[in-house]
Amino acid sequence: APVLPVSGRGPKRQVGREAIVDITQSAAYPLNPFPHYERMRAASPVFHDDQSGSWHVFRYDDVQRVLSEHATFSSRMGGGNPSGSGQLFASSLITADPPRHRQLRSLVTQAFTPKAVDALAPRIAELTDELLAGIEATGSADLIKELAYPLPVIVISELMGIPAEDRERFKHWSDVIVSQTQAGPGNGKDDATTAEMIEYFLALIAQRRSQPGEDLISSLLSAEIDGQRLTVPELLGFCSLLLVAGNETTTNLIGNAVLCLAESPGTLERLLKEPALIPQALEEVLRFRSPVQSMYRVTVAEATVAGQPIPAGAPLVAWIGSANRDGQQFERAAVFDIDRSPNRHLAFGHGIHFCVGAPLARLEARIALEALLSRLPGLSVAPGAELERMESTIIYGLKALPATWQPA
Ligand code: HEM
Repeated sequence: APVLPVSGRGPKRQVGREAIVDITQSAAYPLNPFPHYERMRAASPVFHDDQSGSWHVFRYDDVQRVLSEHATFSSRMGGGNPSGSGQLFASSLITADPPRHRQLRSLVTQAFTPKAVDALAPRIAELTDELLAGIEATGSADLIKELAYPLPVIVISELMGIPAEDRERFKHWSDVIVSQTQAGPGNGKDDATTAEMIEYFLALIAQRRSQPGEDLISSLLSAEIDGQRLTVPELLGFCSLLLVAGNETTTNLIGNAVLCLAESPGTLERLLKEPALIPQALEEVLRFRSPVQSMYRVTVAEATVAGQPIPAGAPLVAWIGSANRDGQQFERAAVFDIDRSPNRHLAFGHGIHFCVGAPLARLEARIALEALLSRLPGLSVAPGAELERMESTIIYGLKALPATWQPA
């Protein structure tokens, strides 16, 4: 969702990989960035990275404020490079400020209300069962590859009316865009992939225009804002955003949930006996290992954060993953506790950009977890497995999750 373009039209500025990696740690992508965040909250809660010129905030109150005070901290990100994925998101919801933001958002909220999303539950359960049926008898598998990765992409492609035979390509595009948004302007090959995706969506849009269906693209096509239809770039922006927003993030919520539960003795057994606790446990996973660790903003005017003046036009990174471990907000913040209540984590953001897909992500993860617990008895992370984090400082998730259980 949450991965913002680093290129595209906008104020002259480049927020790329360097901006973040330098202050996190340069040796790849740690599964445990949390001690680093803790040091930053204590010593440099509002940090200026001299090399990239960007600002970083780490404390809960500051992150919450930066995410929600849109008049000061704008979402209109983008560097000077108009090619690649940045262009796709240039006219999209996640990079819009009011009043345009409100108009665009009203078009999709309908599709993602808890009620609309709940109607998808039987289909999500069916897909989950099909995916697990393939591995149940084996006693071991990579749960990212077999379940957490395919489930969200199938669900979002069905919502958008993407034919089943195109799903593989769809997933591939999503991966390329996610890696572009992390790494800055894409290389030639990635640009070709983006072009291929645009061509595909244009054809799909044209087809739905002549033969509308029940899908999200058809409803976006017929939607009007003040009597005006969405432009083609806006439609493309929506398609790309939904494609990226809903995939990697939900995959990682499911993967991170298995990891957190497996690490916490007795928790899997307890949830198996009391499945009603699963939603609350998932909220704690969202807090403890947030799938989206950071979001970008840019200052519209000079601002002061925690006493630190920040000039106008400054790129800023709000560290959600750090806010969610802030001891000023959460008691025993470093402890994974499925009984935590209240749990005001910021994993889905805060304010007007709060994740539109949150009800869907929560539902998919709940169904996936229920099925994993009931169908893979004795589930645990494969002994001796070396868990590696995906190559991103923004997205937090595992490359693979080798697991074992008692085969059916
Ligand atoms: C926005 C996280 C799943 C669609 C956001 C934001 C976050 C986030 C942090 C706020 C961005 C900001 O403040 O700038 C997550 C996480 C997910 C998830 C952690 C899974 C666990 C989904 C799904 C969809 C989705 C499944 C759709 C199918 C969106 C959209 C926005 C958004 C469209 C932009 C909303 C706006 O700008 O008004 N998400 N997301 N997300 N998310 Fe998600």
